[in-house]
Order: sequence, then structure tokens, then C-alpha cells
Amino acid sequence: MRLLVTGGAGFIGANFVRHTVADRPDTTVTVLDALTYAGNRDSLAEVADRIDFVHGDIADLDLVDELVSGVDAVVHFAAESHNDNSLAEPWPFVQTNIVGTYSLLQAVRRYDVRYHHVSTDEVYGDLEPDAPAFTEDSPYNPSSPYSATKASSDLLVRAWTRSFGLRATLSNCSNNYGPYQHVEKFIPRQITNLIDGARPRLYGAGDQVRDWIHVDDHNRAVWDVLERGRTGQTYLIGAEGELDNKTVVRMILAAFGRDEDDFDHVTDRPGHDRRYAIDATLLRTELGWAPHYRDFAAGLAATVRWYRDNESWWRPYKAGAESAYAAAGEQTLGS
Ligand code: NAD
Ligand code: DAU
Repeated sequence: MRLLVTGGAGFIGANFVRHTVADRPDTTVTVLDALTYAGNRDSLAEVADRIDFVHGDIADLDLVDELVSGVDAVVHFAAESHNDNSLAEPWPFVQTNIVGTYSLLQAVRRYDVRYHHVSTDEVYGDLEPDAPAFTEDSPYNPSSPYSATKASSDLLVRAWTRSFGLRATLSNCSNNYGPYQHVEKFIPRQITNLIDGARPRLYGAGDQVRDWIHVDDHNRAVWDVLERGRTGQTYLIGAEGELDNKTVVRMILAAFGRDEDDFDHVTDRPGHDRRYAIDATLLRTELGWAPHYRDFAAGLAATVRWYRDNESWWRPYKAGAESAYAAAGEQTLGS
């Protein structure tokens, strides 16, 4: 299979490309990535001589047309992905997540190329603590500019599939963790703070709940959907990993041998979603997927080791990420 992977220099895309190259020698991979602040070619260093890397923008219609004309399938990861950035400056989210997806859809439509759209559980909004988990039938109700643009892109895919007969599938996954995640995100931020002798920073009271899944389990599900998913179908991806943020911070502190209260409460995120939770019954029953990483503490410990062992990968980004939080007005509220 000739595969075009957009956003292959980002967190999830790079893990996807590395495993695809290692496990599927019959697949040829072309990566299209704009190398924004979130893209890092070093994440692909080990496979650099086994892929084609194209530095470019998914919203470049001519470039996308040319690349899509030469492949059998597209897996679309590229996005502006961070909620806090979307609150500070929404425009790049509209441009990349909506216009960029439009550009890909027009090309796969023209060449009848198989398309898989990688999306997020955040399109469904948030849940009260005791509400049932999201399913494929949950109504769209996004809260942030990030999740609204991801929801918009999902709706474009659905409309293009119905109106133009695209051979498309969608997946909406919960919060990923693992190696190569940008230090702006929750878990890598706290790990690298601790490596630097700084304290973890918890938004508000820290009682928001996220449904954690290891990035490799997400990517195995993407392959299952790409190969065996039904056209037009959405599959939710999650590993029953619900934890509140304070618990996760305490687990990271424990991995560093620190006291469980050794963190700071900081300014909360405006519009902060309360809880995400995924019901992955369809994926499990129809496609036979199950997570390999069932022990979050073990997966987290491996992730801590990875950041300890790979400081050269994240160090160039750490000061900039912290400056962005300071510039956005993040204040320490107390310990
Ligand atoms: P990321 O921010 O780490 O990586 C995004 C990548 O896209 C970067 O390499 C960046 O350079 C590239 N990119 C951005 N704009 C581009 C453009 N206009 N043209 C080409 N490339 C561009 O993101 P991630 O966490 O790896 O997320 C990947 C996808 O998975 C996104 O679509 C996101 O919405 C979705 N998702 C993420 C999570 C999560 O927990 N991180 C969960 C569910 C779904
Ligand atoms: O649910 C899937 C989504 O998960 C993806 O679509 C997004 O791309 C991805 O970024 C992630 O979104 P979140 O907003 O949930 O992830 P983030 O890592 O930014 O924050 C996780 C939780 O931790 C959230 O409740 C906010 C909180 N947080 C975050 C940071 C950066 C803190 O308490 N302190 C922090 O320093």
C-alpha cells in the first residue's frame, strides 16, 4: 500500500509512521508535514531513509493534489491540536483543521483514494461525572475553538462521503500519552518540570477527568479501521483509562519519588471540559481491537523513562512552551 500520512512529524503521526515502517514492510510511506512548532523531524530520524518526507501545508491544494494522485490511501493526522493555543489564537485552527481538511477531501474525491480521518472525543463536548460514556451516536457539542474546528472537519468528511461517495472512515480517540508528545501537553509538561526541578502545574482544582490511552493502542486501532472499517462509519477509540488530573499528577510525582502534594494549582483553562469518557464497544466487537497497555501506571513509568532518556529531543521546546503559558497569563494560585 502507498500511504500518505499527514502530520507525520507530530506526536501521534510520528509514532504511527515509526511502527508502520517497522511492522509493515509492504507499505510505502510519504509524510506531509508543515513542521509547525509542534512538528519535529527528529521524531522520524530512525526511519528517515525509509520514508519520503515532504515539507508542506495540507491547505496547499496543488501540492496535496499531486501527492494524493500517487497513493492508495491517506491517513490524516495533521492539525493544530492544543486547546490552550486555540484560546490564545484561534485562526490557525480554522485554517489547518477546516481548510486543510477540505483540501485533502477534494483531492481524495478526485482520485478516489481511501481516506481515514483522525479526530478526537472532544467533538462531543464534555460529560458530567456520572454520565454514560460517549458513543458513536453522541451529539456534537464542542467547547473550544480547537474542538469546534475538529468537529467542523468531521462534518466535512461525513458530507463529502454521503454526497460524493468518498471511501472514508473516521475515528475519535481520547487523550493519548507516550513518547514524542510535545512538552506543552499535560503529562510531558509535568514530567519535564520535575526533571528541571520545578513543580507540576495543575489547572484549577484538578478534578477534570480524561480517558487515557497509550499512543500505540490508538495507532493500532487506526490501522484496524483503515483496513477493515466500514465506509462512512465513525469508530470511537478508548481504553477505559479514566483518571482525574490530580491523580495523574500524583502518579507522576510518585514516579520521581516526590511527596504527592508537591504540585501547584494554577489558573484554570476557560471553558475547561469536565470529563471525557469513551465507550469503544463498536471497535472492540466489530474489529476485534483491544488495548495492549492496560496498566496506566506502567505505561506512565515507561513514558517518564523516555523523557529522562531523551532530553535532547524535548529540551529545545521547553522554555518556549513555558513562556507561552506565562504570556497567556497563567498564575500560581497556591499549593
Ligand atoms: P501534534 O500537535 O503533536 O502534531 C500535529 C502535526 O501536524 C505536527 O507535526 C505539525 O507540524 C503538523 N501540522 C500542523 N499544521 C499543519 C499543516 N497546515 N499542514 C501540514 N502539517 C501540519 O498533534 P497530535 O497530538 O499528534 O494529534 C494528531 C491528530 O490526532 C490531530 O488531528 C488531533 O486532533 C488528533 N487527536 C489527538 C489526541 C491527543 O491526545 N493528542 C487525541 C485524539 C485525537
Ligand atoms: O481528548 C482528546 C484530546 O486530548 C485531543 O483532541 C487534544 O489534541 C489533546 O491535546 C488532548 O486535549 P486536552 O485538553 O484534554 O489535553 P491537555 O494535555 O492540554 O490537558 C489534559 C488535562 O490536563 C486537561 O484537563 C487540562 C489539564 N492540564 C493541562 C496542562 C497543560 C493541567 O492541569 N495542567 C497543565 O499544565
